[in-house]
Amino acid sequence: MTKVPVGDVSEFPVGAQKSIEFGEEYVLVIRSLSGFWAIEDRCSHDNNELLGGPVTEHENKSPSIKCLRHGAQFDLESGKTITIPPYKPIRTYTVLIENSTVYVTTKS
Ligand code: FES
Repeated sequence: MTKVPVGDVSEFPVGAQKSIEFGEEYVLVIRSLSGFWAIEDRCSHDNNELLGGPVTEHENKSPSIKCLRHGAQFDLESGKTITIPPYKPIRTYTVLIENSTVYVTTKS
């Protein structure tokens, strides 16, 4: 299992986003009102980074992020597309907090 430290939890107030290198990929770590999330930092439509995209909370389901380029929205928990383009989901990761350090790991 790959496990990469992202920073101290104090660096992640609600609304914070941070893109990190994770092997050969970039992973975007987000803290929203409902918790921590980690997703592939590449839109599956045309490879635009998702860093900086607005995050929307949804009642009774996980939040979503909107790609700033053409407006696609992805579910932060599943990575599934909510609005087209595109049709392909993005990868999602697990966020762990240990001794106030935030880590990203691959999903088991
Ligand atoms: S690059 Fe993200 S919607 Fe087109």
